[in-house]
Amino acid sequence: MTVWLVGVGPGDAELMTLKAARLLGNADAVVFDRLIGDDVLDHVSPSAERYDVGKSPGRPGPSQDQINDLLVALGSRLETVVRVKGGDPFIFGRGVEEAAACRSAGIAVDVVAGITSALAAPMAAGISVTERGMSSGVCIVTAHQGPGSEPIDWTALAATGLTLVVLMGAARAGEISDKLIESGMSPTTPAAVATNATRPEEHVWHGALCELGGTPFRSPSTLVIGPTARRHAEWSDRASKATPASFRAAR
Ligand SMILES: C[S@@+](CC[C@H](N)C(=O)[O-])C[C@H]1O[C@@H](n2cnc3c(N)ncnc32)[C@H](O)[C@@H]1O
Repeated sequence: MTVWLVGVGPGDAELMTLKAARLLGNADAVVFDRLIGDDVLDHVSPSAERYDVGKSPGRPGPSQDQINDLLVALGSRLETVVRVKGGDPFIFGRGVEEAAACRSAGIAVDVVAGITSALAAPMAAGISVTERGMSSGVCIVTAHQGPGSEPIDWTALAATGLTLVVLMGAARAGEISDKLIESGMSPTTPAAVATNATRPEEHVWHGALCELGGTPFRSPSTLVIGPTARRHAEWSDRASKATPASFRAAR
């Protein structure tokens, strides 16, 4: 009896690993949330039990404790339980908390890595976050902090010169832009936002840091800030036309 925490990537089902697809097909139960697309869930066996634990407008969804309890209950009676996670289970995915809850109840846990949106979303915007000569590294941060977390030191981040990738920042893009500019980052620093990256409805915005606040972004969006985030002329066609849907249609 094992609970598998399985990353399924940023959206496009073709970015799942073979292992993730096999586990979904063999699962006795799957537990998933809002960001998981139907084309990923198409891999789940029709006989598997399905539990949607996502939040949606007007529906708050179960608490993390309730999700942990569900995983423990399922793991106690079924052979293979798959907890589906968008991106990678251990990148802002609360996978560690779910693994700890299962282990402390004596249930075996295993984790399958997934492609994180923190890297796939910049790529959808044509950005190499470690482009040679422009950035010697990348910082992945969340704009949404849980109770008890250390506040983010935007001044220190601004001073690193590294590419900043901000998750869960769609609603706070203006605030983040203001904090970075107040911390000394140039207002003309390139910025990009990839929304629904790798999905048919993918949308990419490019501009300057000072313009981030003037544009409403839908969730899920990933913000990329730094010299590497500039628009590449050779990629702009891909960003606007070659969505996963049109890749599929072209084959
Ligand atoms: C709770 S975090 C989970 C991250 C996930 N574990 C991962 O590795 O991608 C959710 C955030 O990931 C980002 N995200 C997830 N899917 C995305 C997508 N398809 N396009 C852009 N950003 C995405 C957004 O910033 C969203 O608010």
